[in-house]
Amino acid sequence: METKIIAPSILAADFANLQRDVEMVNKSRAEWLHIDIMDGVFVPNISFGMPVLNAIQKHTDKFIDVHLMIVEPERYIEEFSKLGANMLTVHYEACTHLHRNLQAIKLHNMQAGVAINPHTNVELLRDTIQDIDMVCIMSVNPGFGGQHFIENTYAKIRQLKAIINEKDASTKIQIDGGITDKNAKDLITAGADVLVAGSFVFKSENPAQTIAELQSLVN
Ligand code: DX5
Ligand code: ZN
Repeated sequence: METKIIAPSILAADFANLQRDVEMVNKSRAEWLHIDIMDGVFVPNISFGMPVLNAIQKHTDKFIDVHLMIVEPERYIEEFSKLGANMLTVHYEACTHLHRNLQAIKLHNMQAGVAINPHTNVELLRDTIQDIDMVCIMSVNPGFGGQHFIENTYAKIRQLKAIINEKDASTKIQIDGGITDKNAKDLITAGADVLVAGSFVFKSENPAQTIAELQSLVN
């Protein structure tokens, strides 16, 4: 079985000590670094933008997983590629031309991700699944860290996994929001490949150790 991935979300880091927190992730067993970009329009919160990603990117060799919670993401695909994003995830709900955006992301040498809000049915991805490198199932409403995990996520993972298998696609399944040591293992069992963890990692006493514990739980 392929290795399962833990992606700490920098949204929960201490922004006054960003270099310290990025270095913690560097030394940890996490393979990915999850970057939440929010525009205050698609979601009711503004996080940070390009200059912050540019600064982070200089201090890490981890796989950079950028989650765009913005309207009209197509306007910024080239720029995120220049900023070193390895995976660029756009929201299904923010794309009138999802397929075109997936093509543009790949043209700029990034992997293409699609995030879906809790209300969005996985069936809507049936016709594009072979073009999607990763589906991010939101297990909270996007916009904020530290929210409660939505239990219906398990059913969505199983439904999505069935579509992926049926279409013989190699799409990864990422789960984002409310991940803890209580649900990590069950999510993997249901079919998830990548778990994003913000508060559970950064608000813990020893974040690097928490990452290691999550890693051991899922592999
Ligand atoms: C929510 C973000 C998540 C968030 C997860 O809009 O997309 O990536 O950082 O944070 P926790 O793990 O605290 O729910
Ligand atoms: Zn996210």
